[in-house]
Amino acid sequence: MLTIAGYTAIRKIGTGGFADVYLCRQENPSRMVAVKAIKSEMLQDKVLNLFVKEIKLLAQLGDHPHIMKVYDSGLSLNGRPYCAMEYCERVLSNVIKRQVLDTAQLLDVGISLCDAVKLSHDAGILHRDIKPSNLMYSSYGQLLLSDFGIARVLDDDYFSTAMSKHWSAPEVVSRKSEATKQSDIYSIGTTLYALCTGHNPFAEDDTRKLQSSIINGKYDKTITSGIPVSIRNIINKAMNKNIDIRYKAVSEILEDLQKVQVSLGLPPTKTYTDDLYGHPQIHGTSEYSFPDYSVGTNTQRDYKTSSSRLSTAHIQELEEQAEQVKKQKAIIVGLVVLLVIFTGALLF
Ligand SMILES: Nc1ncnc2c1ncn2[C@@H]1O[C@H](COP(=O)(O)OP(=O)(O)O)[C@@H](O)[C@H]1O
Ligand SMILES: [Mg+2]
Repeated sequence: MLTIAGYTAIRKIGTGGFADVYLCRQENPSRMVAVKAIKSEMLQDKVLNLFVKEIKLLAQLGDHPHIMKVYDSGLSLNGRPYCAMEYCERVLSNVIKRQVLDTAQLLDVGISLCDAVKLSHDAGILHRDIKPSNLMYSSYGQLLLSDFGIARVLDDDYFSTAMSKHWSAPEVVSRKSEATKQSDIYSIGTTLYALCTGHNPFAEDDTRKLQSSIINGKYDKTITSGIPVSIRNIINKAMNKNIDIRYKAVSEILEDLQKVQVSLGLPPTKTYTDDLYGHPQIHGTSEYSFPDYSVGTNTQRDYKTSSSRLSTAHIQELEEQAEQVKKQKAIIVGLVVLLVIFTGALLF
């Protein structure tokens, strides 16, 4: 089980390609949280450094209402990097096992998802792992996208597992290209497909067959279950294996989903990221107070941390902790070497 000062692990909730997720009780403030900890067998300096880097990226994303809040991060008592986040009972990959989303829900989730991804793309950050298990509802029913950029922590190792290939773009699966904004858009397409059908577009479990179907764009494009043609067209365009035909920017798919919502007379879903570097325009009816971004240069934005966010001091602390773990490892290796030499000298 996981041992972290200030937290009591209650049970393991799930496990992914590189991390385990636990339901924990945080002591201060007292609340239930989900703690994601890198698996011990995955621990290498590379992973540790990248993890710290990813936490920095996460901090840049500000307080978007549809991006999972990371409350805290650090190292467990046995050196596993962890991050504590909001605990969500309803994860969409589980929700759709019981009931697929109807058209109104699908559009609402799709627009909120695109809005969150748009913020990160505008900030130069790719998600790389958009899929139903990274989408969940907060206790107030707000859609949240989790694991921003975290897939990058393990990069090659991660993509070598078949697990997330189901959602990955053909050019990434065939390794013709690195992940791009358009590969994130492809994963939005596969995710929407799954949310309205209850299964991912590619049924094959065999890795080779799966790869071949993804690369050749062989999935059932008809999608039954009463999904309007306009939505099917959006999904098929997002999932087009040809990147020249696929949506180029997430704002394009967002706008298309909004158009369908309007055409069906459904209430508009609020969006928050229209003008990232200026004053965001907010669609919809109710008011939302957007975090105050102090603009430095176009590429470097400062943001004001809220109490639930990671501060620069905290990130520094995390870097120092990572440094300490490295030093401890070096000392242990040194001691083992000395012991071996000493034992050798005694024996011979
Ligand atoms: N914040 C959270 N609240 C509740 N459950 C979560 C949370 N984050 C992850 N989970 C659960 O833990 C499982 C494993 O998560 P993860 O390690 O991110 O792998 P993956 O996203 O590939 O499933 C998820 O499938 C989900 O069911
Ligand atoms: Mg996840």
